[in-house]
Amino acid sequence: MANSAITVTGLRVVRGGREVVKDIGFETPRGRITGLLGPSGCGKTTLMRSIVGVQIVAGGDVTVLDLPAGSPPLRRLIGYATQNPAIYADLTIAEALRYFASVLRAPLSDVDRVIAEVGLTDHADKLVGSLSGGQHSRANLAVALLGKPELLVLDEPTVGLDPLLRDELWALFRRLADGGATLLVSSHVMDEAARCDHLLLMREGRILADDTPDRLRERTGTADLEQAFLRLVRAASKPEVTPS
Ligand SMILES: Nc1ncnc2c1ncn2[C@@H]1O[C@H](COP(=O)(O)OP(=O)(O)OP(=O)(O)O)[C@@H](O)[C@H]1O
Ligand SMILES: [Mg+2]
Repeated sequence: MANSAITVTGLRVVRGGREVVKDIGFETPRGRITGLLGPSGCGKTTLMRSIVGVQIVAGGDVTVLDLPAGSPPLRRLIGYATQNPAIYADLTIAEALRYFASVLRAPLSDVDRVIAEVGLTDHADKLVGSLSGGQHSRANLAVALLGKPELLVLDEPTVGLDPLLRDELWALFRRLADGGATLLVSSHVMDEAARCDHLLLMREGRILADDTPDRLRERTGTADLEQAFLRLVRAASKPEVTPS
């Protein structure tokens, strides 16, 4: 893909003495939403950390927006929302965002914009430590939106949100992609797969499928993406038939 946002080749990562990302390769299209889906522990966060450039890797190449992962210029081009929010509990949402905006050298006017984008305007003056789980993860997402990054790497941004909020966030992701941003969004909820333009299905450190939702449905002969995933898992775990 000439115009890919992320290109991964032969990536291997060892964590805790075990290979948890096993020689994977893929490309993600620019200006689109790519979903990274797979069960807990399959390696989604580890892969995202490799793309953001904070993971020590055992081998392979990761190129992001035409630069090697971890290159300093990428810092301002990538917005990363980690799975476990790391924003300070004793600041209000607005204070925390002003702080991160100054660290990222994003304009201060971005603060109100990103608070509105994640639907927290009415809570901007609440202490981060007093937020509900869903509000906390939206505040975390707001940090990633500061400075209008070209690539958003969002690790399970909708976990713990009610269906209405999830729907609103997916609508926001779509608006961001329509505005030219590239999104990589992880989830282990298969119903979110249908909202993506491109899917990476991951299992046990490997990419099981790298396709559009439509082609995946076609290939597996089912309209339901959860079923499609299960069929791929079963096909992959079938023992090789060896002639006797
Ligand atoms: N800090 C760590 N030290 C050692 N092993 C780790 C560490 N973090 C993760 N692992 C292991 O790496 C593997 C992949 O973990 P990872 O967090 O990437 O999975 P995940 O797909 O993001 O899971 P989840 O959906 O639960 O967030 C797992 O086997 C996990 O136990
Ligand atoms: Mg994870």
